[in-house]
Amino acid sequence: MRAHDVKEILIDKTAIARRVDELVDAIVAATSGDRLVVIGILRGSFMFLADLMRSLHRHHIHPRIDFLTLSSYGTGTQSSGEVRIVHDIREDVRGADVLLVDDILDTGRTLAFTKALMLGRGARSVRSCVLLDKQAHRSVEFDADFAGFPIADHFVVGYGLDYANLYRELPHIAKVTFHE
Ligand code: IMP
Ligand code: MG
Repeated sequence: MRAHDVKEILIDKTAIARRVDELVDAIVAATSGDRLVVIGILRGSFMFLADLMRSLHRHHIHPRIDFLTLSSYGTGTQSSGEVRIVHDIREDVRGADVLLVDDILDTGRTLAFTKALMLGRGARSVRSCVLLDKQAHRSVEFDADFAGFPIADHFVVGYGLDYANLYRELPHIAKVTFHE
């Protein structure tokens, strides 16, 4: 691990909470709700998904919730480029309206892979919701249906996002500043 600090807060917890409610309102407006399966991509989505689901409760919608553990990053800050299923979902998504939830859309490989996987398994629709969108960093063409905040090409942590599996517990998004 390189010498670094995480002192600079880019998005505080109040701004995140406000945006989570807006995202949920947009998701509800676009989804019928009766066959909704929400799939969190682990580990980065755990905090975002929990807050989205608590906010969804305002709309009296009862989704099925499952988790897909993928790995592409290893312990560095550069994507390895290859997406692997570490732990699969248990839900049957045939005929379901799937909502994929991830922390950040970066190269686009994770969500492009997962969307194709769910469509291949017979999902009726597959939408995606990400907290952060690093638009400048795409290597495959992919747009999230719902995105919280566009961000520049920094390495960020907190609110589920990690550097070498650290800092996921931060209630805000912070920038990792590397020293020399
Ligand atoms: P993609 O497949 O390149 O779009 O990458 C998505 C995954 O890369 C996310 O779920 C994160 O785990 C990881 N990732 C991308 N950028 C960052 C970052 O700035 N901080 C922490 N994780 C990141
Ligand atoms: Mg991740």
